[in-house]
Amino acid sequence: MVATLRIAEHIADGTTDVDKLAAAAGCDQDVLHRVLGHLVSRGVFAEPAPGQFALNEAARGLLDPALVLGLDLDGFGGRMAHAWGSLLTAARTGRPAYDTVFGRPFWADLDAHPDIAASFDALMGPAGHGEPDPEVLLDGDWDAVRTVVDVGGGTGTLLAGVLRARPATTGILIDLPRTVARAAGTFDSAGVAGRATTPGGSFFDPLPAGADLYLLKSVLADWPDAEAAAILRRCAEAVSRTGRVVVLGGVTPGAAAGESDLLMMVLLGGRQRTLAEFAELAARAGLAVTASGRQPSGRYVVECRPAPTG
Ligand SMILES: C[S@@+](CC[C@H](N)C(=O)[O-])C[C@H]1O[C@@H](n2cnc3c(N)ncnc32)[C@H](O)[C@@H]1O
Repeated sequence: MVATLRIAEHIADGTTDVDKLAAAAGCDQDVLHRVLGHLVSRGVFAEPAPGQFALNEAARGLLDPALVLGLDLDGFGGRMAHAWGSLLTAARTGRPAYDTVFGRPFWADLDAHPDIAASFDALMGPAGHGEPDPEVLLDGDWDAVRTVVDVGGGTGTLLAGVLRARPATTGILIDLPRTVARAAGTFDSAGVAGRATTPGGSFFDPLPAGADLYLLKSVLADWPDAEAAAILRRCAEAVSRTGRVVVLGGVTPGAAAGESDLLMMVLLGGRQRTLAEFAELAARAGLAVTASGRQPSGRYVVECRPAPTG
């Protein structure tokens, strides 16, 4: 609640009295006072004089735009909080809690709420996750890479980074029309707009064919096996015979447990996969895993190539 109301920002801007904080945040003074009092007792914010609040180290964390974006109950952060709170529903139904809580599956809900979709896109971008590492290949061998397709590439942050780091490449961003519509600024500010195209479309439809590299970053874990295999199949159909499909995120070398696995479950009915589970899915789609490993950043990368036929 205090993140949504930007209380830490108001304090940092010099507003410290609870009545003035409530006025600045547009909320009820009594409720705010009681919530801040509780947070002070838990070590977040200080109250140097009655009714006057200050930032301490923990509260200063609430000045981090990425954290605020994820906690903003008016935006996508609110959707995540409610879905988490319905883990029990997911356990009882075996279905994503999101569908039950919001009355529609995840992507349909974003279609119906442009403000939530914009907040989700922002959370996926640099404001939420920082600039992604553009060194996406395990062997660093870019010699044969001319065209890169970022499949479900969001607002283009990774692709812009790749194109900036590799001036001989051109890129195609595939994502939903409302999301690619937000990508122009990303490519402009990276100085690569002349080498990027952004056809809006679905990765369940045929992808631009013949490229050397297809990237899937944080995409496959959003989907159950049938849909994840269908996306991989589109990549397999499109990739050049000598090209690669590179998966970043959603695959772990060992057991695929963890918080992000549970988040995929409650939001989307998706899952994190072990390398063995992923390799089986890739084989169904006509791809063979040819390399996997951690990059210096710790990111786990899986590279696939078209499976030999015949
Ligand atoms: C978890 S986000 C990852 C975005 C980006 N790759 C990243 O790592 O920041 C998943 C992306 O899949 C896109 N998406 C969902 N359904 C899609 C579809 N049918 N076709 C294309 N993109 C889709 C979403 O719009 C979103 O940008």
